[in-house]
Amino acid sequence: MAVNPCFRKGDLGLMSKKIYGELKPPERLLLGAGPSNIDPRVQRALSLPIVEHLDPYFMEVMDEIVELLRYAFKTSNYMTFPISGTGSAGMESAICNVIEEGDEIIICISGFFGERMSEMAQRYGGKVIEVRAPWGRVIEKEAVEDALANSKAKAVAIVHAETSTGILQPLKEISRIVHEYGALLIVDAVTSLGGCELDVDGWGIDICYSASQKCLSCPPGLAPITVSERAMNIIRNRRTKVRSWYLDLSTMEKYWLESNRVYHHTAPILLIYALREGLRLLYEEGLENRWARHEENHRALVKGLEEMGLEIFADRNYMCPAITAVNVPKGVSDEAVRRTLREEYNIVISGGLGELKGRIWRIGLMGINSNKKNILLVLEALKNALKKEEAKKPNNNKQP
Ligand SMILES: Cc1ncc(COP(=O)(O)O)c(C=O)c1O
Repeated sequence: MAVNPCFRKGDLGLMSKKIYGELKPPERLLLGAGPSNIDPRVQRALSLPIVEHLDPYFMEVMDEIVELLRYAFKTSNYMTFPISGTGSAGMESAICNVIEEGDEIIICISGFFGERMSEMAQRYGGKVIEVRAPWGRVIEKEAVEDALANSKAKAVAIVHAETSTGILQPLKEISRIVHEYGALLIVDAVTSLGGCELDVDGWGIDICYSASQKCLSCPPGLAPITVSERAMNIIRNRRTKVRSWYLDLSTMEKYWLESNRVYHHTAPILLIYALREGLRLLYEEGLENRWARHEENHRALVKGLEEMGLEIFADRNYMCPAITAVNVPKGVSDEAVRRTLREEYNIVISGGLGELKGRIWRIGLMGINSNKKNILLVLEALKNALKKEEAKKPNNNKQP
């Protein structure tokens, strides 16, 4: 898109002459790290009439969302609702409600989003103890235990599905160890909720947050969160106020959960309708069926990629069913291939983040997008894009 000349300094007078056309976004198949495509039923929910955020009708919708989220998270936690904001708002809320100045917190880092948690905890005055594993590997439980034994950590934070590497982190054992040391377990389930097995109560997770735009097939903008009573007791007995006004769970609770609801902020009504529809879809399919569908399609994708000669990046024992990372073959331009996919096939896949930029592609099969047709489409497009790259190589253009 060309830079609008009206935005040059001193040119404001021209603005009235420009005609702004209707939006006509391209219809892309979003098979990257998120957002994924919106289910048509969710899309319809977005166009329903708006009501006020304290309308009796809307309060019923809110109650149902809370019930459906408890189902999705597999929890009976009273504190369960969507935060208005993207997944990072869920992350920030989990951290800023627990951490007070000087508190020790263990952050597990084996990818881009672990790094983000560490940065957030430091900004809220936490003394961060980092437990690291190479990107593409899981965090070892022994390393977490060692960090707990040598600190007074109040909490351990870890990413369940590390979207930047395609790893699904086992949590059960880590949870047992965290609780043995009396700490809280904070889990990022942004990419796993509604796509990979997750059992908040069964695994003893104290705070778990997610996002609407991945396996729930909704638009970005909401961060479902659930908090155990144990964590809420600690949060309610803080010495100091939570530093973020907006993300303070105890004040959001008064709007989302108390019978005498009190205004906190103007909830994004249409996004909440959309989330209800996304959760209704999950409930109709059933959690176990949903997980099995993602697992089966992930396996089919991996098989197809390997048959093309591509190599999986992540440790094969811990691959995440919702996002698959493959190595970019030597001598191939990551960007050129993704451009071909986008421009010639309308398919979007993601490149690598941080230290993996240019080195991997990430293919997401999330929510509605996890189906056989999409696997065939992306494999075919990728095969053709790679052929095109091969043809560009100087050796292949030499005249006999
Ligand atoms: C694992 C993980 N955590 C956190 C986030 C941040 O979510 P958002 O981009 O919705 O703020 C993402 C986004 O992709 C993610 O994959």
